[in-house]
This record gives sequence, C-alpha cells and structure tokens, in this order.
Amino acid sequence: MELDFQQFIPSLPFLLKGITVTLKIVFVAGILGFVLGIVLSILKISKFPVLSWIADAYTSIFRGTPLVLQLMIIYYGTPQITGVQIEPAAAAILSFGLNSAAYISEIIRAGILAVDKGQKEAALALGVNNRQAMFDLILPQALKNIFPALINEAVSLTKESAIVTVIGVTDIMRRAYIMGGDKFSYFEPLLLAGVIYYVMVMVLTLLAKVLERRMRRSD
Ligand code: ARG
Repeated sequence: MELDFQQFIPSLPFLLKGITVTLKIVFVAGILGFVLGIVLSILKISKFPVLSWIADAYTSIFRGTPLVLQLMIIYYGTPQITGVQIEPAAAAILSFGLNSAAYISEIIRAGILAVDKGQKEAALALGVNNRQAMFDLILPQALKNIFPALINEAVSLTKESAIVTVIGVTDIMRRAYIMGGDKFSYFEPLLLAGVIYYVMVMVLTLLAKVLERRMRRSD
C-alpha cells in the first residue's frame, strides 16, 4: 500500500471549497427544520385531534423512510408532477429541512411537555393568554433544556449531508470523489474529506459547549 498525499496538494483548495457548499445546505436546512419543527411540535400537543394526527403522520413518514430516498424523490420525482426541475442544492435543502423537522418536532415536543405544568397555570391565572404563555414562557425554557439534543441533530445533519453527492451537489464528499477519479487514487482524498467532516463536527460541538456554559451561567 502506498499513500501519496503530495499529488493532491494542488487540488486542496477545490476540496476546501466544498465546506461552504456543505455548510450552506446544513445551515439553511437546519433553520427550515427548526421553524417547521416548532410548528409541528405545537400541532402535536394541540387539543384538536386532526392537527396532532397530521403532525404525527408527518413525523412517521419522514422518520420511517430513508433520507436518501426523500432526497431523490424531491430531486428526480417532483419534476414529473410539478413540471419544474429544481436545483440539486435546493432539493438538498428542502429534503434535509423537511426530514429534520420530523426529528426536531419530537425533540421540542418532549421539551415542552417537560416544562412544569404549574408554570402555564400560573401564567393563565395572572391573565396571560395561551399564546403568550407558550411563546414567552414555555418555549424559551423548553429550548434551553433541549439545546444538547438540537446540537445532536445539527451534527447528524452535517454528516448526513454527504449523501447530497448522489444528486450531483459538489459538496465535500463529491469533491473528494472527483479528486479520487482524477488520479485513480481514492484513499487519500476520502481520508482528507473525513478529516474535514470531523473538524466541522468538533467545531460545532465546541461552540455548543461554550453556548451551553453561557446559558447555564445566566440562570
Ligand atoms: N440515515 C438516516 C436516514 O436515512 C438519517 C436520517 C436523518 N437524521 C436526522 N436526524 N435528521 O433515515
């Protein structure tokens, strides 16, 4: 076995450019997933059975099928019924956002239910309305408690993003693959890609630790 990293030095900038591609997808999909996740979690605990049923069905479908399948359906399948071919990056953001919302809604739902019931009762007794109690009192506490779980989801999303390579998005993974094909040597670029993903996840974890510590201090 012989490893030759030297030959990949010129194409290193090409590989590193994939970081922004990956980050953009993860970031936008994460926000989409978070916002939709909040909406779904509120539907899940709603008093109306139809609404909670819809939100549960949503989670069941997006959690019950492979993410790579959802990605391919959105990219290759939807043009057939909508008549428009969307960009690979847009398909990636959409599928990751929709998928993540299913997971995030469960995390937030658990967080909301974990906030003591007496708090809502007290707020209502003081004349605060239902909506205010949810958005100003319960959700902020829930989000603080579930912060580690949300970071976990961001880590999953970052790593799972590598599958966008199947629809041709030139993310880190695809760039490593292209570099390998170029030199008929895959081991080195894939190893480099692995290092990049690992560093990204480590940075995210570190950032989360700092934020968590700061939140705890403000208690
Ligand atoms: N590999 C899993 C799947 O294909 C990952 C799903 C994405 N996970 C997540 N936390 N959003 O279903």
